[in-house]
Amino acid sequence: MASFGKEFTTEMERIERFYPNKQAMLLPALHAAQAERGWISDSTMQDIADYLSIPKTRVKEVATFYHMFHLKPVGKYNLQFCNNIACWLRGSEELIHHAEKKCGIQMGETTPDGNFTISEVECLGSCGTAPVCQINDDYHENFDVQALDKVLGEMK
Ligand code: FES
Repeated sequence: MASFGKEFTTEMERIERFYPNKQAMLLPALHAAQAERGWISDSTMQDIADYLSIPKTRVKEVATFYHMFHLKPVGKYNLQFCNNIACWLRGSEELIHHAEKKCGIQMGETTPDGNFTISEVECLGSCGTAPVCQINDDYHENFDVQALDKVLGEMK
């Protein structure tokens, strides 16, 4: 078992007073672990389970339910395209194909240099500004090919 670093433990200590018990801190623990380690591996699930004194199966249930938790390593820039109906009607397919071509990878893959991952996510809750792409923590709304090219250029 690897212990968590300062980033994780500081965050857990900061929020502990807002929760009735440690077991209720599973979601923030997953977020903090992912922030510290980049993704949620099997061993990270075990570390969270140990930290919260809950079964690992409980951690796995939650980690695999929400798409925001990465169950494999992702690139430095994670391009998460919404492809639900509003975004699809407003051109998300074209954006995804363009991103795949520009990055030289397919949906769900990461570039060999580890810079970019392209993934598809469920509705990002911003249908009024479709199409939307979430890159790491930032929303890119009313996204189009020109804006995508600009963002990719700035990230290289
Ligand atoms: S359908 Fe894309 S944000 Fe809702």
